Amino acid sequence: MYRWVLIAHNGWRWVVIVIGFAVLFCAVTRLRTGRPWDTGVARLARFFSISVDIQVLMGAALYLALSPLTTLVVASTDTPLPVGSQAYFLAVVHPLMMVAAFIAVHIASVLVRRARVDAARARRALIFYGITWLIILTGIPWWRPWIQL
Ligand code: HEM
Repeated sequence: MYRWVLIAHNGWRWVVIVIGFAVLFCAVTRLRTGRPWDTGVARLARFFSISVDIQVLMGAALYLALSPLTTLVVASTDTPLPVGSQAYFLAVVHPLMMVAAFIAVHIASVLVRRARVDAARARRALIFYGITWLIILTGIPWWRPWIQL
């Protein structure tokens, strides 16, 4: 079970990154050309937030139950993990940043939906989905395999 969820969590990151990039690309083109924020882009933005939700769910399953890291985290209450180590990044920094991304993507969705005109929608999408996307890119443990098989 651990292996399958790890493979999925690893691979799904590319789905999150690519859909996030597509949303940002659409926001930039909408801003530059004045094209409307149509249902196609709105749907893409929704897929982005759903893709983050799915990734966070898998991450939580790894963190709370499946990963051997769980034991490391429990043990770290006695012996703190060295700050700056890879274990510290995976056990503390990665989950915190990704939970921040989870919150950011949902705030972004609400703000974009509540905007009154399409130009404001595109601007808010660029800013708030952009922040989400950057948090995700920064929080990924890039030293780990880029594809798990
Ligand atoms: C958009 C959100 C997230 C992305 C893009 C992401 C991405 C990744 C990637 C690429 C890895 C490396 C996988 C590998 O080594 O094959 C990883 C590992 C891990 N992630 Fe996430 N993650 C996200 C959210 C989360 C969250 C919210 C948690 C915890 C609550 C979490 C917990 C973990 C754990 C525990 C590992 C290490 C598993 C292990 O090696 O046993 N992730 N994540």
